[in-house]
Amino acid sequence: MKKKTIRDIELKDRKVLVRVDFNVPLDIETHEISDDSRIKAAIPTIQYLIDKGCRVILCSHFGRPKGKVVEDMRLAPVAKRLSELLKLPVASTKDCIGIEVEQSVSKLKSGAVLLLENLRFHPEEEQNDPDFARTLAGLADVYVNDAFGTAHRAHASTAGVANYLPAVAGLLMEKEIDFLGKALTDPIHPFAAVTGGAKVSDKLALLENILNKVDYLLIGGGMCCTFLRSQGYGIGQSSVEEDKLHFVKELADKADRAGVQLMLPVDVVVADSFAGDVPFKVVNIGEIPDSSYVMDIGPYTIKAFTDELKKCKTVVWNGPMGVFEYPAFRDGTKAIAQQLAQLDATTILGGGSTAEAIDEFGLTDRMSHVSTGGGASLEFLEGKTLPGVAVLQDKEH
Ligand code: 3PG
Repeated sequence: MKKKTIRDIELKDRKVLVRVDFNVPLDIETHEISDDSRIKAAIPTIQYLIDKGCRVILCSHFGRPKGKVVEDMRLAPVAKRLSELLKLPVASTKDCIGIEVEQSVSKLKSGAVLLLENLRFHPEEEQNDPDFARTLAGLADVYVNDAFGTAHRAHASTAGVANYLPAVAGLLMEKEIDFLGKALTDPIHPFAAVTGGAKVSDKLALLENILNKVDYLLIGGGMCCTFLRSQGYGIGQSSVEEDKLHFVKELADKADRAGVQLMLPVDVVVADSFAGDVPFKVVNIGEIPDSSYVMDIGPYTIKAFTDELKKCKTVVWNGPMGVFEYPAFRDGTKAIAQQLAQLDATTILGGGSTAEAIDEFGLTDRMSHVSTGGGASLEFLEGKTLPGVAVLQDKEH
């Protein structure tokens, strides 16, 4: 069901409470924002509201302060960066509710932007407390949810507040739902899902949900070891999720019955310690030494994977192919990224580490869509209904 967006309602001069996801990484030493892509992704919505003359009241969580004020988790660095990006002053408050907030809101002029303090300083936020939600709602005339990255949480600011205000999607939320939703419901074929990352247990629901939608399912990353073991291969010192062996075997059987080509590595890069500066070599999957860890997919696998990807019109990718944090073991992830960058296809990336990798390779702009959601994009692709999306008005409403 399509959701109403800020384009579908009258907003001129309204007070608008916008839930954004400004949960951005900070450099531990300098306390500077190390990746501002979530702030940049919210700009189109904020700018649209400014242009409509709205009084824009932004709210977000930042980290996991567990219902207490944590000085290092204040949103001040975000307000500064947002102001630079908007080229406008961004006022901020020391709390997200209370008299100071009400006064700041009442002083807001048409087209001005206010950023409330970290919502999670109040335990009521994560408890989805109705009074807290009503208090937040009392600041505005309209509620806009643009925080796709937090849409899988049923919190006061992502769900509860919609009980008290007309609730619509922001432009980022709309874009995320459109890209991810189309991949699940109406993808152009051939369609491939590329999955990686450390553990198969993190991807069970995704694999199940996507299996009968795709033509190719390519498995890399640490999780491929459980698949390889289920087929009788030794995987050295790499970890196997023993309790998932049955699941992956069944998945392979289901893929077979559905005519889905499930592809596993045929060769891998191995090293004798799980570290970045160690000797490594390429081996076929039947020859992984007992003493070794699987660190990346090998060159034959890269060739096999990219050959299939070349045929695709839709690709969803979640999870790196190897331990890409170490330069020696990023060839697989890089090769997939480079292949996707060249495709005439819809390419959708989800998951924090995949987005991080693509950014390091400087290829973010070459993808159709890089989701701002980690957990949220995964749950969406698992076919779950996200609470922060469900509460928004339907287009037909
Ligand atoms: C995220 O970074 O995935 C979102 O901001 C949600 O954060 P959370 O996992 O702390 O709820």
